[in-house]
Amino acid sequence: MKPILRDFPDHFESERLLIRGPRPGDGAELNAAVTESLAELKPWMPWAQKPPTLAESEENARRGYTRFFTREDLWLLLFLKESGSSTLVGGSGLHRINWDVPSFEIGYWVRTSYAGQGYITEAVAVITDFAFDVLGARRVFIKCDAKNERSAAVARRLGFPLEGTLHCDTRDHFGNLRDTLVFAKVRKEE
Ligand SMILES: CC(C)(COP(=O)(O)OP(=O)(O)OC[C@H]1O[C@@H](n2cnc3c(N)ncnc32)[C@H](O)[C@@H]1OP(=O)(O)O)[C@@H](O)C(=O)NCCC(=O)NCCS
Repeated sequence: MKPILRDFPDHFESERLLIRGPRPGDGAELNAAVTESLAELKPWMPWAQKPPTLAESEENARRGYTRFFTREDLWLLLFLKESGSSTLVGGSGLHRINWDVPSFEIGYWVRTSYAGQGYITEAVAVITDFAFDVLGARRVFIKCDAKNERSAAVARRLGFPLEGTLHCDTRDHFGNLRDTLVFAKVRKEE
């Protein structure tokens, strides 16, 4: 089946979060969350090297909305339910999709004022279930810089087995050689 013909929800919930695809109009909240978190994002996220303008954030939200619709990339925003789902506490999503497997890479970041409260672990748990149970995933993986201990801790906390370390796998966005940890959960065919 062509990816664009696949039907599935664009939102779901965890205990404390509404998790949904980006929509036109999300730019302002996205901008506030990224701008606040720039110092923590900068070492690890190539897209977070300078404060985005409001127009850039809105453009990103709209491009994310389009790519979600075509099933090319399932970017997900994490909103706090107790805020009436208006406060963005971070971002995640199912990326680098191979619909033939299907396989997905989960990425994530947290808004700095909401770090250390388990929101990302909670979101990634539910997004993993969504990938396996709704999207029929056979493989859900997390890749991170071997130096990124907080990211690896999310994968470990959720019981993602470490498949291995890719030595000198790539260069980080500062140009330094990088080792990459690969964690994955799989569901094999019976
Ligand atoms: C990676 C990143 C998302 C982790 O954020 P985080 O706040 O540590 O993750 P969580 O939201 O899951 O919170 C976990 C922490 O909350 C605590 N916690 C509190 N309540 C919790 C709960 N109900 N469930 C789980 N953890 C809970 C945990 O003990 C842990 O604290 P600790 O680090 O002191 O042990 C964050 O460091 C980040 O955004 N980094 C920059 C971007 C990045 O590197 N992304 C990954 C690229 S591969």
